Amino acid sequence: MGRFKNAIAVVTGAGSGIGEQTAIQLANEGAKVILVGRTRSKLERVVDAINSSAAEPAATVFQADVTKEEEMEQLGKLIKQEYGDLHVVVNNAGSSGKSSILDMDADEWDRIQETNVKSVFLVSKVLGPVMIEASENAGQTDPAANRAIVNVASLSGHKAGAKIPHYSSSKAAVINFTKALALEFAPHGIRVNSVSPGFAETPLTAEGLKNKRFEEAIQRNTALSRVGKPEEIARVITFAASQEASYMTGSDLLVDGGWLIK
Ligand code: NAI
Repeated sequence: MGRFKNAIAVVTGAGSGIGEQTAIQLANEGAKVILVGRTRSKLERVVDAINSSAAEPAATVFQADVTKEEEMEQLGKLIKQEYGDLHVVVNNAGSSGKSSILDMDADEWDRIQETNVKSVFLVSKVLGPVMIEASENAGQTDPAANRAIVNVASLSGHKAGAKIPHYSSSKAAVINFTKALALEFAPHGIRVNSVSPGFAETPLTAEGLKNKRFEEAIQRNTALSRVGKPEEIARVITFAASQEASYMTGSDLLVDGGWLIK
């Protein structure tokens, strides 16, 4: 048990990588975690790992596509009915691709904006009211009622990268949307921050990392001279979600091994 004792948490894209590690860390610290994603088998693998080491079941699967409004509305209904409260939302689901601007078709542009930006808007629109209602019922003066949203952005939201114009602009949008949401939700006692990972070893980056020269280039460009681990990113996400970050809202936390300073 730890910082999230009795908290209810949602993590999107929780079947792999950074989302998986975030769900595990939240559950290890006492949260009941709802893992959201499209592929049931991936989510079940993580849920089984969490529940097999917990005293009582701490994780459940909600199979859904975060770009689909109806599916997110179903998620909101389920949380209201089953839990009646919500403390932490981690908008982690995301996708990338490689193309120059001139070679990209509009469908690929839309796919990335929908997965990375529209999803954050939809989840906030649907789960925000559940958090607000719970916050009002609990009374904002209750110090235990920590409520926070953490959006996973990217180093690429701070700087352009080769052949990822759709991805880098989507992540810049996530960073700024986070600030807008933080302003809107602050009166309700809900903090909203983003975390911007640098390069971490996950299924998203696995293909690129097969290329030794690519990995060496990342090491050269990173002050700490190495690729990050998903659990290192997850630890910063759980910090931003926790009561320890009680005076932080509208911020972006860069976790890039010192890429941007080089
Ligand atoms: P990942 O590919 O393991 O995780 C992304 C997850 O999102 C996957 O499980 C995927 O199935 C899920 N997802 C994608 N589209 C979805 C949809 N429409 N509905 C529901 N789930 C969906 O990769 P990783 O690296 O763990 O990515 C997590 C987040 O971190 C992403 O937002 C990514 O952009 C961000 N990020 C990752 C970096 C890295 O170096 N790994 C660097 C910077 C940001």
